[in-house]
Amino acid sequence: MISSRARVVEIEEVAERCFYLLLEEKTLAAKSCPGQFIHMRITDNFFPFLRRPFSIAGTFPEKGLLWIIFRLSGAGTKILSRIRRGEEIECLGPLGNGFNLRKSTGLAVLLGGGAGIAPLLFLAKTLQESQKQVALYYGASRAAELIPVQQFLPRGVEVNLATEDGSCGFKGLVTDLLESRLQKELLPGEIFACGPRKMMQSLAIICRSKKIPAQFSLEERMACGIGACQGCAVEIKAGEKRTVFKRVCRDGPVFDSCEVVW
Ligand SMILES: Cc1cc2nc3c(=O)[nH]c(=O)nc-3n(C[C@H](O)[C@H](O)[C@H](O)COP(=O)(O)OP(=O)(O)OC[C@H]3O[C@@H](n4cnc5c(N)ncnc54)[C@H](O)[C@@H]3O)c2cc1C
Ligand code: FES
Repeated sequence: MISSRARVVEIEEVAERCFYLLLEEKTLAAKSCPGQFIHMRITDNFFPFLRRPFSIAGTFPEKGLLWIIFRLSGAGTKILSRIRRGEEIECLGPLGNGFNLRKSTGLAVLLGGGAGIAPLLFLAKTLQESQKQVALYYGASRAAELIPVQQFLPRGVEVNLATEDGSCGFKGLVTDLLESRLQKELLPGEIFACGPRKMMQSLAIICRSKKIPAQFSLEERMACGIGACQGCAVEIKAGEKRTVFKRVCRDGPVFDSCEVVW
């Protein structure tokens, strides 16, 4: 983990209220893995006081570049959306455990909802580079909110889109789209997911009933981001009847779906 100042190389609104931010920071670009995140100090002032966590959506290690996708949410992301090329931003990272790719065999199904797509773009590229077959399922409320994922993915990744209002792709929830495919021909070796809690809850039920191993990247409100404050604790199963609290920032953000107490 390093704390360093990254230079803004590019910032672009790629979907409604959704921004692509390309940063130059050699060590972060070289050391980051899919599922890890950076904790950004949005300004050098006291407001906003806390750093903001963002998944690493991709890297170009040979150029010393990494990028994130962020959605406008509150005060911090509003300020971040106004940052300009050449400005610097303090980043702590790479943080968290990342996805475990050692056990992954067969078709990898990646399911992302909203801004949860970000870590899956990095994961899709990494899996493809190791010759794995990848299918991405990505959903949002409506077409304008979908980021143009094909622009960020290597060729060969199958992309399946869903919108709740039907303005692009399947009409309905992305979990409904995946479930309908699972009832027909789809046979994933493993599922990787990131998105709103309700989406993950539904997906956990699907994965359990179909006995498909799954890894979920969780989002919790964070303060320190390095395991010191316990602010991001989630309840995790530890045996038949016992549960423990684990820190999303340090022990996660990626957990086995069957471990999480929803
Ligand atoms: C591990 C991790 C990875 C993330 N990756 C991304 C990403 O790639 N793209 C993206 O758009 N968003 C991501 N988020 C959510 C992102 O951190 C919040 O949207 C952002 O912090 C909101 O800040 P704000 O000041 O605009 O909002 P405010 O609501 O004003 O923030 C107030 C506080 O709540 C926290 N907070 C608000 N929403 C969330 C949230 N959904 N999750 C965690 N903390 C939150 C903020 O960090 C801040 O401390 C991630 C969150 C986590 C924990
Ligand atoms: S944010 Fe402090 S322990 Fe996770």
